[in-house]
Amino acid sequence: MGINILTLCYLIASVTYILGLKMLSNPATARRGNLIAAGGMTLAILATIFLYEYDGGLRLHNYAWIFGGIFIGGLIGTLTARKVHMTAMPELVSLFNGMGGACAALISIVEFDHLFHENKIDAAFFSDKTDGGMYLIIVAGAIIGSVSFAGSVVAWGKLSGKVKDLSFRGQHIANLVVLLMTISAAFFAFHANVRHANIPFFVTVLLALIYGILFVLPIGGADMPVVISLLNSFTGVAAACGGFLYDNKAMLTGGILVGAAGTLLTILMCKAMNRSLKNVLIGSFGATAVHTTVTQPQGAYKEISIGDAAMLMNYAHKVMIVPGYGLAVAQAQHACHELEKLLTDKGVEVKYAIHPVAGRMPGHMNVLLAEADVSYDNLLEMEQANEEFPSTDVVLVLGANDVVNPAAKNDPSSPIYGMPILDVEAAKTCIVNKRSMKPGYAGIENDLFFRPKTSMLFGDAKKVLQDLIAEIKTL
Ligand code: TAP
Repeated sequence: MGINILTLCYLIASVTYILGLKMLSNPATARRGNLIAAGGMTLAILATIFLYEYDGGLRLHNYAWIFGGIFIGGLIGTLTARKVHMTAMPELVSLFNGMGGACAALISIVEFDHLFHENKIDAAFFSDKTDGGMYLIIVAGAIIGSVSFAGSVVAWGKLSGKVKDLSFRGQHIANLVVLLMTISAAFFAFHANVRHANIPFFVTVLLALIYGILFVLPIGGADMPVVISLLNSFTGVAAACGGFLYDNKAMLTGGILVGAAGTLLTILMCKAMNRSLKNVLIGSFGATAVHTTVTQPQGAYKEISIGDAAMLMNYAHKVMIVPGYGLAVAQAQHACHELEKLLTDKGVEVKYAIHPVAGRMPGHMNVLLAEADVSYDNLLEMEQANEEFPSTDVVLVLGANDVVNPAAKNDPSSPIYGMPILDVEAAKTCIVNKRSMKPGYAGIENDLFFRPKTSMLFGDAKKVLQDLIAEIKTL
């Protein structure tokens, strides 16, 4: 009976992960999806702790350690997640992902240690197909989990400004050598004199940690989301290895789903930023793309007053708002929604053009606007928005920069060349709101600001929006 209940719990948990993942793909259901999957995970954990012994497993005696760990981890996680600012979310995701990688690697280390100290590792162990397969899973979990842990911690450090980009000549080769050394050490442990198998195993873990650091260190911030997503998929695969080791279906399914979802997201983001996955894997792309010094101003730009901007929008048929990172910094999403409602009441058609990598994390703009109750029907994806710009009277760019930079289309020497952008120039008029002429994340000049159709509206996005609202109300 107990066996069936445990299997049933794992089945329910697996179904909740799939449902949760599906629901995460829509902002309207994302929150509920997250809760459902978390509920399934809680069920799987409790079932493992309390029902495992009925499934032929050992009776657990270390409840204090288990629940102590869950309590402390849960408390730290909750407090950190509650305190974090929306703009610092990618760092937090990276750090949490690193913890997942560390857990997966620790599982492998503990299981290797068990086998080693119980003298289960002998010549027969390695030559036996089943045990050999088990070793491969242990070592795969250790390597992938360690790379994910070390890489995620470096990614967290970089995004929070604590770790600087570091690149040197021959970095690709050095990274490849370390990766090959890691795999060689793992194979050496497999064939080593069994009494010494632990030395190459721990060298493997150490090398994997070094590889994780080297892999992420040179990568520039603009490409960081791709790396975080890739590391996320690594953690999933490492967790799936744990599922194999313990023959735990819920862990296996969860790991595979995270691995697959992370891989898909990585591919989608690579496409959105026009980076190849190969470059990600050899670990040195994008390093020159970000935080380079500001280039020379490219000529004259014209400014527009609040009054004129309000007038243009008030008498437009169609206004397209392009939100970017600056909107999140200014926390201007509510003011933005208010402007949208005001214009809509006055008969103007208002839509939002959402670039897939606007902001600092996947879906950043969708989440931000959802916070202000902006209707999802008004959010256009990039391709759709680009089709609608030619019929748009006024584009209002709010704290966006790189995602509307025409250099991505016209300048082959630009670090963002090839990245698909929102083609705001196709509209009749473009008003760009930002605080200064400073560049965006990629650290490069934006020719859009100097184009004849563009007018700059300087100021903090929230203040500018509030002023626009006040002005439009008087018209
Ligand atoms: P950015 O290119 O970073 O530009 C944001 C602009 O907002 C800046 O030029 C800044 O100019 C302005 N700004 C900042 N605070 C503001 C405020 N309070 N009020 C008004 N404007 C403000 O943003 P984007 O166009 O959204 O592009 C995103 C960039 O980040 C891309 O390069 C992307 O590759 C990268 N990235 C994306 C992600 C994901 S997955 N979304 C993750 C990491 C990095 P001022 O300083 O002059 O105001």
